[in-house]
Amino acid sequence: MNRFIAFVASQLVFFVLPALVMAKERISDPAKGWDNHYNLWLVISIIIYLIVTIPLIYFSLRYRRKKDNETGAYIEGNVGLEITWTVVPFIIIALIGVHSWALFNDYRNVPKDIFEAKAIGQSFSFEMISPEGIKTLNELRVPVGPVKVLLNSKDVIHNFAVPHFRVREDMVPGRETYLWFNAKDPGEYEVFCAEYCGVGHSKMLGKVIVLKREDYDAWVKLNTAAESAPLPPEEKGKKLVESLGCTGCHTVTGDKSAGPTFKGLFGSKIACTDGTEVVADEMFIKEKVKNPQAKVDKNYTLMMQPNSLMDEELNAIVAYVKTLK
Ligand code: CUA
Repeated sequence: MNRFIAFVASQLVFFVLPALVMAKERISDPAKGWDNHYNLWLVISIIIYLIVTIPLIYFSLRYRRKKDNETGAYIEGNVGLEITWTVVPFIIIALIGVHSWALFNDYRNVPKDIFEAKAIGQSFSFEMISPEGIKTLNELRVPVGPVKVLLNSKDVIHNFAVPHFRVREDMVPGRETYLWFNAKDPGEYEVFCAEYCGVGHSKMLGKVIVLKREDYDAWVKLNTAAESAPLPPEEKGKKLVESLGCTGCHTVTGDKSAGPTFKGLFGSKIACTDGTEVVADEMFIKEKVKNPQAKVDKNYTLMMQPNSLMDEELNAIVAYVKTLK
């Protein structure tokens, strides 16, 4: 019974009390929290390293065997020492544990009423959606301040990682995940896909663009106005090709990627895996968008998913592809 009470008391002293104290004070910037955590680990590791290595070197020189017939002294255990080297690490680990827990708590609990955007992973690009509903490819624009990003995926598991803000989180198809960070300074910060997702993984890059509040508002105004105006079909096709994520695998510049380039595609002849040859005309492009399995270029591996689009949208895509000569 006494042992049990001692156990409960030690748990209270080492874990629960410090945890309560740390949890009360919320970190306003998780990136700072991670850096502090890293530095805590680093300092503790260096100290332990020195405590182990310096005596190790000293003892191996001081007590080395000097003559052939020498035998070492027989040393019994030392209770005091053993208690010390059990209790001290226990306290250190408790401290790190509590610190981790407080940090994780901050990482998972988003401050209330903050800017909330969406990012959707697709092979191999990020579709970003602002709270106003503006869609952009690979570029997430946010105003200065704390930002929450809801994450999802259209196909396989991707990972939304922004090293500058020390955050990353999986983008899982059929499940909404999230992360948050504090965008303190205007600027551009790299976004990486940090989960191997296929041949285009290394090209799956994006940016978080932090703008001053008034610049952000101006950007929203400009884009909501543009949204309502009708676009010529080629322009609309270009937007569709970007927002659907086609450019993740198909370049428009003639460069090689996971799929054939769109440049010069229209009217070209394609040798297919079934031995036939087709001309990339309007019918072919429309069919390909809807049902990618139909004809596959023998120089590429089929990875594309079917898209259900309206006829008008398919026409817009064809109109755009035609412009890429
Ligand atoms: Cu998407 Cu790696």
